[in-house]
Amino acid sequence: MAASPARCAAFDILLRTERDGAHSDALLHSGRMSGLSQGERAFVTEAVLGCLRRQGEIDHLVGRAAQRAPTRIDPEVLVALRVGAYQLRHMRAIPDHAAVSQAVDLVKRARKRSAAGFANAVLRRLPPAPPAGDAVALNHPAWLTGRWATNLGPRRCARLLEANLRKPDTYFRIPAPMDVGPILKRLRHAGLEVKTTCLPRAYRLTRGSVPSAMAAARSRLSFRDLNSQRVAALLAGQGTSTVLDVCAAPGGKSRQLAEEGPVVAADRRTSRMRTMRRLGRSGIDLVVLDAEHPLPFRRTFGRVLVDVPCSGTGTLSRNPEIKWRLRPADLTDLQRRQSRILDNSLNAVAAGGLAVYATCSLEPEENEHVVTAAVSRRPGWTARKAISSVPGSDPGDGFQAWTIRRPLD
Ligand SMILES: C[S@@+](CC[C@H](N)C(=O)[O-])C[C@H]1O[C@@H](n2cnc3c(N)ncnc32)[C@H](O)[C@@H]1O
Repeated sequence: MAASPARCAAFDILLRTERDGAHSDALLHSGRMSGLSQGERAFVTEAVLGCLRRQGEIDHLVGRAAQRAPTRIDPEVLVALRVGAYQLRHMRAIPDHAAVSQAVDLVKRARKRSAAGFANAVLRRLPPAPPAGDAVALNHPAWLTGRWATNLGPRRCARLLEANLRKPDTYFRIPAPMDVGPILKRLRHAGLEVKTTCLPRAYRLTRGSVPSAMAAARSRLSFRDLNSQRVAALLAGQGTSTVLDVCAAPGGKSRQLAEEGPVVAADRRTSRMRTMRRLGRSGIDLVVLDAEHPLPFRRTFGRVLVDVPCSGTGTLSRNPEIKWRLRPADLTDLQRRQSRILDNSLNAVAAGGLAVYATCSLEPEENEHVVTAAVSRRPGWTARKAISSVPGSDPGDGFQAWTIRRPLD
């Protein structure tokens, strides 16, 4: 029996993530998913993200059954074993024999036919899943767990570790000026369940899938995390002056800000700017720039959003490979880049204007350390922490955001 298209897609995505450093989230929204049914796509998403969230635990079980370190197994064989082991231990609806035989087929499809017997034997003698406490420890690098226990305290740290292994809640936005009433009515009529949140126009989908919600609402929804929406909302109701969004791609916050008025959306990556152009709507001007260097504007802006590139440790449930790739030294490197971007961006804030600095990182190096240093170099400027959310303790992804005010001259 050949491996099913859904298992082949899960395998291909996981292999590219493992071997080439690709981002699973981008691949799960790429052409690799085309031609698959809605049910097959749901399987691929669960298998890919589940394998990555629980990679430490799965590799531990595979290593014990194989009696060798996973690092000594060919990547193609290891990835096929991970797909099989995840189904065996965490996808109860899949019969064991199907999980094993399909994993063996993936090994053969990857031209590793000589390892087929090995894969079959490893999966057949796979030990039971570890107790929940051990699984949490196995599924996080010790250096991250240690720093979160110190920085967040033991209770919030424990809740974060558990949340990182769960599927995140799904949030969406009904963009202004659409009338929310008829859209919510259509969603409920189609059997979907939604709940209000702390933010107007932001809802949590509590029953039903994203494609069915899109179909019921006729594609008028913007699926984005609640706290990402809250970051953009910090600049709302602060006048109608043009907003400069310095690190704008792929454009979620720019589009939200454009609901209210003109936006200049800038980013370094032209490929991501092309995506934005496709999604672009009137009111958004696009600029390619490198904000680590002085910005090219002759004017200043009353409102500036600085949504910097960051480690993403607040989004591990959504982007689980980050925890396996990140190294302590990366935080120092990111902090340097973030400080340069924030400094150049603050130079573009008009007298009396407002900047918002945001990350989806939980690490102080990328948050308070950057903001405090930048503001301390600017007499009269003030900074206030406006959002601080930690998965497991607060709704949505982990985000930190500061409002930074420039005084009137
Ligand atoms: C966190 S993402 C921004 C997400 C975006 N604000 C949104 O809501 O869709 C960070 C962005 O910063 C961009 N970036 C990284 N380094 C940059 C630089 N030196 N100058 C400008 N943009 C940069 C990346 O290309 C990436 O798109």
